[in-house]
Amino acid sequence: MCVLFLHAYNFSLLAKSLNLLSMDNLLLSVSDYEGEARKKLSQHDWGYFAAGAVGGETIKENCEAFKRWRFRPRNLKNVSRVNCATEVIGSKVPFPICIAPTAFHRLCAPEGEFCTARAAESIGVGMAVSLWSNKTMEEIATEVPNCIKWCQLQLTKNRIVTEHFVRRAEQNGFKGFIVTIDEPVFRNRDHRYEDGRPFNFDTSIRSRNIEQSTKIVEPDQSAFAAFQSWMNGSVEWDSIDWLKEITDLPVVVKGILTAEMAIKAVEHKVDGIIVSNHGGRILDSTFATIDVLPEVVKAVNGRVDVYFDGGIRKGTDVAKAIALRAKAVFVGRPIIWGLACRGEEGVRNVLEILKNEFIFTMQFLGVSTIEELQTTPDIVVHETRYFSKL
Ligand code: FNR
Repeated sequence: MCVLFLHAYNFSLLAKSLNLLSMDNLLLSVSDYEGEARKKLSQHDWGYFAAGAVGGETIKENCEAFKRWRFRPRNLKNVSRVNCATEVIGSKVPFPICIAPTAFHRLCAPEGEFCTARAAESIGVGMAVSLWSNKTMEEIATEVPNCIKWCQLQLTKNRIVTEHFVRRAEQNGFKGFIVTIDEPVFRNRDHRYEDGRPFNFDTSIRSRNIEQSTKIVEPDQSAFAAFQSWMNGSVEWDSIDWLKEITDLPVVVKGILTAEMAIKAVEHKVDGIIVSNHGGRILDSTFATIDVLPEVVKAVNGRVDVYFDGGIRKGTDVAKAIALRAKAVFVGRPIIWGLACRGEEGVRNVLEILKNEFIFTMQFLGVSTIEELQTTPDIVVHETRYFSKL
């Protein structure tokens, strides 16, 4: 007994000296990163990233809903080689997981979006740069030139400023626009902490990226105040037509949750759709994005690519979205958690965890290509449909 104890003690000393038991080695899953990020970030910053709108129903539901979709594996097939490379908004990526636009990366790491973009560049996946990034598009393009970047836009009644963003993105090698359509008016005040207390955003946090364009018309006003006044709910589909006219880069709309909206988007000649409810931060009590994905895919019927975000925390979640015919998924909060815990390395690690879990899931399902995952009938089914047939 004593000998065993001594062996265990010696092993733990050796492991410690080899750094095998350090905290970083325990960051093996996205939820490990979430737990660690919660400890690392200030209460305000954690609250900002974690917050959902009003009752927090959608933010929870996005994750919960994945559990109700179940796999039906087909084993005894050669899955020794898996190929999950694909194309996202015109760029080749090694696996179908990219970075969703999220604001203010400097709250997580001093170099902010540089770290996120470097991680994306080193792996070869794409990053959607939020309009509210701390670093400007110009700085990111100079510092991380080979990162596949898309510019997230929020259309307002002020087209002069929107066009300024468009030209900056074009001049700095961005590969397309992701237009967020689910936030016609500015909503920040009724976000809540997880315990239900109201969250108040510290408006002294600045986005130099947005300032660079707002100041051309409002040099004396804060970007927050200016942008807030332009987001007055007046934007309609003709703004998408206008954007398509002023740029040759692809235009993808983000925030589609219904067949009706998807059809409208196709009619307005968008180059892609992202099924998204903004990670539960805007309209509360929508369906989870994974639950509406089939409806949107069916309505679009292959006419444009359909992408997905919301609640992706595991490789199985990625596999479910891809099996339900999303071309690729975008990931929001997990990237933030990686950034907060370990900067560039943390973002890379989170992406690699998701990739590895996704590849294992494909192998365990008995598929070795994305095409196979998407064409094997009923490889993922909703449990209510399954049980109703029994
Ligand atoms: C966002 N999201 C977002 N979307 C957008 O179009 N522009 C933005 O500036 C932001 N900012 C932002 C900040 C934070 C802190 C979060 C959590 C989210 C929404 C984001 O792009 C994406 O839709 C969700 O984050 C996806 O859900 P998950 O992956 O966070 O569950």
